[in-house]
Amino acid sequence: MVPSSKNVLITGGAKGLGAHLARHLCAEGHRILVLDRTAVEDLAPDYQQMLAQYMTVDLGDELAVRDCIAGMLASNEGRIDVLINNAGARSFQEFSAFDAYEIERCIQVNFKTPLLLTHALLPLMKQNGYGRIINIGSLSGFRGYGSGSLYCSTKAALAVFTQSVGSELAASGEGVTINAICPDSFRTREGEELPGFEETLKTTARTVDTLLRSRTNGEVIPVASRRRLFAEASVGLRKHTSWLFKRK
Ligand SMILES: NC(=O)c1ccc[n+]([C@@H]2O[C@H](COP(=O)([O-])OP(=O)(O)OC[C@H]3O[C@@H](n4cnc5c(N)ncnc54)[C@H](OP(=O)(O)O)[C@@H]3O)[C@@H](O)[C@H]2O)c1
Repeated sequence: MVPSSKNVLITGGAKGLGAHLARHLCAEGHRILVLDRTAVEDLAPDYQQMLAQYMTVDLGDELAVRDCIAGMLASNEGRIDVLINNAGARSFQEFSAFDAYEIERCIQVNFKTPLLLTHALLPLMKQNGYGRIINIGSLSGFRGYGSGSLYCSTKAALAVFTQSVGSELAASGEGVTINAICPDSFRTREGEELPGFEETLKTTARTVDTLLRSRTNGEVIPVASRRRLFAEASVGLRKHTSWLFKRK
């Protein structure tokens, strides 16, 4: 039975895209559960009231995440219908400038924690006959660039993970899906809104709505202007053909 009001867990839901999705899905009648490191007192009062559950946790701390998800399941009768792995560590610098701790943290937040949460919730979603896992990737996961070694590679890994588990779930037909949404840059770390900010957030929310209804599995969906997508596609094509020519 597909519940009409779903328990939706959003990581990194205190601000940015996560908070936008939380407000949107709450207005659609869903119960919103959030994991974020932001102190609850720092949330706007109207937003605090909107949330069914808020837990403060560092998503880079595996043991703490395990504890939180167990607590969240216990207080929601074992039912989390939708998992949106949204939190991301946006760390950019030359690879050799990262220390070992920063490398581990970025891999943990952007890749290992989404896997851990997926692993914890999948069996229960299957048991309930309904589940939607949506991973927030990035257009940066489609192609590496200078200073993006950690960010691009962890987002690429998340996309390929999504495709792989999506193939398994499509074959099993148990009512559970996993897909990824990969937006283009919409905001700097300093909070400055980039061109297309509103449109990116709206398109992402619309894509989430579609994925909640759809049975599609393993899709990696870019959210970007047509111009940007065309540019990305032509770069990919040029690279591929130059590689073919080099082989001859
Ligand atoms: N912004 C962009 O241009 C862009 C483009 C493409 C894809 N994305 C992806 O979209 C997602 C959301 O991006 P955003 O810009 O909306 O995010 P954001 O505003 O930077 O972060 C959203 C929330 O996640 C929290 N968070 C980050 N790391 C955490 C951790 N280790 N433990 C607990 N909470 C943590 C943040 O807390 P703090 O404020 O304390 O960091 C913040 O409250 C990310 O996966 C990002 O990679 C972003």
